[in-house]
Amino acid sequence: MAPTKTILRALAGETLATPPIWMMRQAGRYLPEYKATRAQAGDFLSLCYNPDLAAEVTLQPIRRYGFDAAILFADILLLPQALGAELWFVTGEGPRLSTIQSQADFDKLGPVEDIHETLNPIYETVRILRRELPAETTLIGFAGAPWTVATYMIAGQGTPDQGPAHALRQENNALFEALLARITAGTIDYLAAQIEAGAEVVKIFDSWAGSLKGEAFQKYALAPAREITAALKARYPHIPIIGFPREAGDNYIGFAKATGVDCVALDNSVSAAWAAEHVQVDGCVQGNLASRHMVTGGQELVDETRAIVKAFSKGPHIFNLGHGITPDADPDNVQRMIDAVRQQ
Ligand code: CP3
Repeated sequence: MAPTKTILRALAGETLATPPIWMMRQAGRYLPEYKATRAQAGDFLSLCYNPDLAAEVTLQPIRRYGFDAAILFADILLLPQALGAELWFVTGEGPRLSTIQSQADFDKLGPVEDIHETLNPIYETVRILRRELPAETTLIGFAGAPWTVATYMIAGQGTPDQGPAHALRQENNALFEALLARITAGTIDYLAAQIEAGAEVVKIFDSWAGSLKGEAFQKYALAPAREITAALKARYPHIPIIGFPREAGDNYIGFAKATGVDCVALDNSVSAAWAAEHVQVDGCVQGNLASRHMVTGGQELVDETRAIVKAFSKGPHIFNLGHGITPDADPDNVQRMIDAVRQQ
């Protein structure tokens, strides 16, 4: 049966007169209602693991803006925690994890089968959302890509250049590859469980794919995405998959064909005109307005939004930002972007 929800139609390869729209980090600190619910939960991780409150913050941007998709409220670092890493968030700084530098560190991780014990509340959030979302809104589940998740597990925090992960990859490649294999297997089971609970699309966030070049990109960004996609497609052939190899540059070319993903999400380092010619030729693309327009607004926001819609108008396209919206964004600018997309 042909899909009726706009996002699913675009993902099936249909060119729509108005592109469907959602926004990375659409539930977030730029919204006063998010901050209120987060305060009620106490801290970020308590919010992630509280199905009622996580569903509530997922729904907030849908109520306010009527986006075409909702993205499950969770984090890519919950999987490492479920695999046995320690995880905490330092306010104003970001995530911290126990590090993986040696075989002994790796041996402390648990088996993939055990992840659901920790992640069950996330699946409950998905079930609540499928009941509560408007009939026309698509629910997107997600996970981090193995390389990006590994960069945090190895360094124990975010790093500007992913230096510690690159060092382990070169100095103890066997351990690095064992870690990547564990994360890949966990990601497949985690996304499968989200789909079983009701996720209609899944997205794989490879935020640090851009720091892998040449053969390393093929082995550690492309190959894991292909493996995850193949495993999910074997079980759930009708569930579309969005890949996001952020800042992949020329490696965006052919990524959908090589991995089997239904859609490639674009960051704003590539121009829409270039991506229409080199990436959209293979199918649906998502993106790619620079997040800063949500802070700065004005006529430039409207012009740039319209230019992106126009550049991608000859093929399947889902409008989005090139990366997550930032806490200093003005909620009114989000509405201006939506109006510019829908009033072409
Ligand atoms: O997009 C959504 O609205 C869905 C929820 C979502 C979050 N994180 C919530 C979140 C998603 C899809 C993510 C993905 C994620 N998390 C990525 C990949 C995408 C990207 O941004 O590159 C990464 C690298 C992470 C890890 C992470 N989580 C970091 C580095 C941080 C700290 C930086 C920051 O923005 O504070 C987080 C925290 C986080 N994850 C917040 C939210 C809403 C902010 C937490 C808060 O409320 O204090």
